[in-house]
Amino acid sequence: MKYVIGVDLGTSSVKVLLVSKAGEVVHEVSKPYPLIQEKSGYNEQNPHDWVEQTIAAIKELIIDYNPEDIEGISFSGQMHGLVLLDEHYRVLRNAILWNDTRTTEQCEQIYNLVGVEKLLSITKNRALEGFTLPKILWVKQYEPEIFSQAKVFLLPKDYVRFAITGKIHMDYSDAAGTLLLDIAAKKWSVELCELLDIPVSLCPPLVESSDFVGTISKEFAEKTGLSERTKVFAGGADNACGAIGAGILTEGKTLCSIGTSGVVLSYEPDSDKDFKGKVHYFNHAKTDAYYTMGVTLAAGYSLSWFKDTFAKNQNFDEFLAGIEEIPVGSGGLLFTPYLVGERTPHADSQIRGSFIGVDSGHTMKHFVRAVIEGITFSLHESIEIFRESGKKVDTIISIGGGAKNKTWLQIQADIFNAKVLKLASEQGPGLGAAILAAYGCGWFDSLTECAEQFIQVVEEFEPHPENVEKYKKLFKIYKKIYANTKELSKQLSLYRNLLEERYSI
Ligand code: XUL
Repeated sequence: MKYVIGVDLGTSSVKVLLVSKAGEVVHEVSKPYPLIQEKSGYNEQNPHDWVEQTIAAIKELIIDYNPEDIEGISFSGQMHGLVLLDEHYRVLRNAILWNDTRTTEQCEQIYNLVGVEKLLSITKNRALEGFTLPKILWVKQYEPEIFSQAKVFLLPKDYVRFAITGKIHMDYSDAAGTLLLDIAAKKWSVELCELLDIPVSLCPPLVESSDFVGTISKEFAEKTGLSERTKVFAGGADNACGAIGAGILTEGKTLCSIGTSGVVLSYEPDSDKDFKGKVHYFNHAKTDAYYTMGVTLAAGYSLSWFKDTFAKNQNFDEFLAGIEEIPVGSGGLLFTPYLVGERTPHADSQIRGSFIGVDSGHTMKHFVRAVIEGITFSLHESIEIFRESGKKVDTIISIGGGAKNKTWLQIQADIFNAKVLKLASEQGPGLGAAILAAYGCGWFDSLTECAEQFIQVVEEFEPHPENVEKYKKLFKIYKKIYANTKELSKQLSLYRNLLEERYSI
């Protein structure tokens, strides 16, 4: 039997999947790495940790397999994170991640120097703190000695691929999230680089996600047990790979992916639609296709934060047990998942989360269900934008941690008022990476053909009309929380900054 490996470089861990030619995930291994949070709003990681843990994960994954049977490997990666390399391709500083919100000032600079209309016409996206370009400008402004040594920038999974092949590349689906790509022309925007005084030479060569970009270096083969003959394919942004791994390859298909962040994503055949930057618009990992996407920054992260803070000794099954017995709406308890600010529909790095309606009758389980409902309401705001634009959203494929729990899948169906499909594997991005490798190896004539072989729907969740009605009423109240907590969050953010300066916390 022949195999491919899908590597999903996430925010909390790297997950590697070994997938057979028949599309069966025969083995999976996950290895964690830490987040470095020096200040409120700062989120960094050490690129060497990604490489070390990817090596450890692959070594364990293939230990019982013949390396010569592993024909290809490809990647899915957390988007937007800035990795700066010097002329010897050495890492210059920790990577600044997608969920780091220190760059509000640089987003304003982009609007002042480029203008919102021009930015939207080239990149189809707004300047958001999470994207790569504001991070480059931040390093240029606050760490000029590091910036002056920078030869090239990469995104997280590109750095791991570089460690494997020794070659520098970036694929279009991830490049789209830098805010420096002309997404229709599929070229780095020289105009944006000039307006912002960034050398175009900092931008790496562009490739398609399914392009063959090299083989495994001798050193990496020795460390992992892989064969030097295994072919390496570029890979893509985690959300684009998640879309492939869930079969979002034609118009009319919608994905809900709940990992650390949560996204709702819909296929677009071209770059022509105009959402005026209300949702993200990126190149797909399928050649010449696109997708639109709304993002909840702290989706799975809200739930794991709540568990780690209030139920540290429980595992996830214990923590979620019994939420099905709590009535729809958690007894009038609402939660907004703005732990690290928000993206869609409120691009606001200062907003913070809240529980509204806390009552002496509420138990721990009410809080857990309220967190899950709040995350799902937040994602529903993106679905509303899609529906308002005329998109039909009647069936949603759900992947990620949010697809592991049946009660949560039913809550998704009831809040989204759509049929929700659960797949055999929730590891959408890793599976998408494996599909890119399988297609790259020539096992299938198209990504669609490969996806049909690799993806299996195992369960369907229909919306329950009485729950849909209840959630519609609650959603109206949920939507008012943002406006009512915006100013309070702003004042608290100033207070937090003061405290940080005073006590250096
Ligand atoms: C998308 C985004 C996140 C990360 C998470 O724009 O920032 O979904 O890709 O890995």
